[in-house]
Amino acid sequence: MRIKKIKLKNYRNYNDIELNFNDNLNIIIGDNAQGKTNLLESIYVLAVTKSFLSISDKNLIKFNNKFAIIKGFLECKNNNISLDILFNESRKIVKINGKEIKKLSDYISVMNVVIFNADSIRIFKESPNLRRKYFNIQISQINRSYLKILNDYNIVLRQRNEFLKIMNINKDSDISYLEVLNNKYADLSVQIWKYRKKYIDDINNYLDDMFYSITNINGLKLNYVSNITANGNDDIKNLLLEKIKNNFSKELQYKMTLIGPNRDDFYFSLNNKNLSLFGSQGQIRSSVLALKLAEVKLFTNIVEDSPILLLDDIFSELDINKRNNILKYLNKNVQTIITTTDIENINENIRKKANVYKIKDGKLFPGK
Ligand SMILES: Nc1ncnc2c1ncn2[C@@H]1O[C@H](COP(=O)(O)OP(=O)(O)OP(=O)(O)O)[C@@H](O)[C@H]1O
Ligand SMILES: [Mg+2]
Repeated sequence: MRIKKIKLKNYRNYNDIELNFNDNLNIIIGDNAQGKTNLLESIYVLAVTKSFLSISDKNLIKFNNKFAIIKGFLECKNNNISLDILFNESRKIVKINGKEIKKLSDYISVMNVVIFNADSIRIFKESPNLRRKYFNIQISQINRSYLKILNDYNIVLRQRNEFLKIMNINKDSDISYLEVLNNKYADLSVQIWKYRKKYIDDINNYLDDMFYSITNINGLKLNYVSNITANGNDDIKNLLLEKIKNNFSKELQYKMTLIGPNRDDFYFSLNNKNLSLFGSQGQIRSSVLALKLAEVKLFTNIVEDSPILLLDDIFSELDINKRNNILKYLNKNVQTIITTTDIENINENIRKKANVYKIKDGKLFPGK
């Protein structure tokens, strides 16, 4: 799919702008703090209805204003779609072709984006919670049902934690209620594990090739760690219920659920060495970029339409060979929007074919 045009009103440091994109490479050049990240963020928000990681919707509204609007026009494989999001101080409204959509899960899988930005690196360095959030968004973009299961899971998880608190105080609480919750909890956990495992397996089908195309080195793998390591045909649900049973006194002591997808983690390894422990900055950056390119491949295969690739300041910490390898790779069939502070980072031949904008203090000017 391609985004043909975006309109922003009162979004971050933008007043009122309209921007057209070409179908291949679009380059946004600007000094620090001019609005490059904000612009890519707006495209991401248009797709997933919220910003990266832990940024609240309210921050997206330009200072001293009451609302923000993002409007985008998409050209997809079979049709053209317009998307609208309005944020005001209390809520957001999303629309597809002018019609309001009540359930966000019906909206989120319409536009597919893959983004690389400063958070992408953080995700693989900081707490596992960030990685779980990240993969939840990725999987939701290609599976409508995943988000629904995840919401149900979070509800049961909350109920279970609350009940553990009650049980901790009142030893006579009704244990059969906990058993009902455990059963629901196990059913939903198994479904989440299956989606996550499948997603990571699918990504690994492309990941190493993508890493090779950037670094000329083989051996990158994305690893998935969960509390239950099942072998093939194991009955995962019963394994989980058993483990929950064995850990009951510990859970009661901590008053929270200690086993399940809420404890999952993900890490990169390069030739079996854990990059979170041993990776250099550049290695982690190249791994995350390889993951993004693998996601593009996977999404394209599953959705049968390519996602939009957003690359925010990818060049820092990468040597010239890797920069050129990435640029060579980008020149293919995926619409890409890339930001940089320095146009010299981008090879002249590639620049000539691209759509270039300069950005200064939230205003756009034709570039080149
Ligand atoms: N809600 C908001 N209202 C108004 N201005 C905002 C809002 N949120 C952020 N800004 C401002 O937008 C400006 C541009 O930020 P942005 O992160 O897009 O810069 P950038 O071009 O990506 O810079 P860098 O090269 O340093 O990454 C900053 O000066 C920031 O203070
Ligand atoms: Mg930025």
